[in-house]
Amino acid sequence: MTEQMATRGVVFERPGSPPRIEELLLDPPQCHEVSVRLAAAGVCHSDLHVVDGDWERPSGVVLGHEGSAWVGSIGEGVDGLEIGDLVVLAWTAPCRSCTACGRDEPWLCSAPDGSGHRLREEDVRLRRADGSPVGAYSGIGTFGEHQVVARSAAIKVDPRTPPEIAALIGCAVTTGIGAVRNTAGVRAGESVVVIGLGGVGLSAVMGAAAAGANPITAIDTSPAKLELARQAGAHRTLLADEADQATGADHVLECIGLVETVELAIELARPGGTVTLVGMTPHGQRASFDVYRLVEEGKQIRGSNYGSAVPARDFPMIATEYLEGRLPLDLLITERIGLDHVDEAFEAMRRGDGVRRVVVY
Ligand SMILES: NC(=O)c1ccc[n+]([C@@H]2O[C@H](COP(=O)([O-])OP(=O)(O)OC[C@H]3O[C@@H](n4cnc5c(N)ncnc54)[C@H](O)[C@@H]3O)[C@@H](O)[C@H]2O)c1
Ligand SMILES: [Zn+2]
Ligand SMILES: [Zn+2]
Repeated sequence: MTEQMATRGVVFERPGSPPRIEELLLDPPQCHEVSVRLAAAGVCHSDLHVVDGDWERPSGVVLGHEGSAWVGSIGEGVDGLEIGDLVVLAWTAPCRSCTACGRDEPWLCSAPDGSGHRLREEDVRLRRADGSPVGAYSGIGTFGEHQVVARSAAIKVDPRTPPEIAALIGCAVTTGIGAVRNTAGVRAGESVVVIGLGGVGLSAVMGAAAAGANPITAIDTSPAKLELARQAGAHRTLLADEADQATGADHVLECIGLVETVELAIELARPGGTVTLVGMTPHGQRASFDVYRLVEEGKQIRGSNYGSAVPARDFPMIATEYLEGRLPLDLLITERIGLDHVDEAFEAMRRGDGVRRVVVY
């Protein structure tokens, strides 16, 4: 287990220069790590934020943070995983010892294993032939054929789960469904509005439908997305310029990350209702609201990071719900692509064309 292995990954250098596939070398797993062979990886808008320079990220990292994989080799001190297991990769690998982990809020972990995109000297496992370090985005870099990840980032799911579906559970699905269940706490009979129907928003619609929310209203600028939302369980769909018809909801979820739709979400919630912000803006953007009205109307605004989910609990549960036919997650897959087509997937996402493009290895 001391040998390096040859692999390939899509490396991000800087905004404006398209990420390129590079030949790389991967170290074996160390203590509390496993090496994995990627099975599938979804292209999420959070990768596009990085490529477009909305968020500052270090250069020289294999992109991608939504993926499924098979366990390859196992480092020391790893329990509960065997070679060949199908795992969903979590983009936060909880340290299990910080205050947030102690509160069972792993999405807020202050020191996730393999953090800093695996560029800290002790975390580097990927290198170029000249020995220079390459990082793994969010510790998992799913646009790479192989990775070494923290044990707590590799969550075993039912092996019958199709790898493409398992990949989407790693970000969009858990983020959207978790925002509905864990962050907003939607209950049967409550009304829900979802603004933005990409992979995250459509997953929120499915989560609301599974929770028995009624009515569920879905809003997007794209008529094609509205059709998908109906298939995902929305009772009513509105184009963005008709959004004021959705006023008075118990719960509103913003799943885009635009200031104007964040402010719209706050308007659409009923007095006493909750606004759950899931979409992420470029760094530093500020939204505003009428403070007097918000207070008088007793509205609540919450941020939802990773669907307030506990991966070890939520990933296998969601996979089982899918296998039992309770979540129509297949709707999210627009196209299966090869690793060399990630760039085109970003371009399509900029146009708002399609939901998830999934790299199949
Ligand atoms: N909170 C988290 O933990 C978390 C996790 C994953 C993704 N995200 C963020 O969630 C957001 C959505 O991600 P995604 O992958 O689903 O993106 P996406 O690009 O697939 O979907 C965005 C959707 O918004 C629609 N849209 C754009 N402008 C609109 C407008 N003005 N009004 C109505 N609809 C509009 C688009 O047509 C598209 O359907 C991104 O900002 C992403 O970074 C957050
Ligand atoms: Zn994501
Ligand atoms: Zn922690």
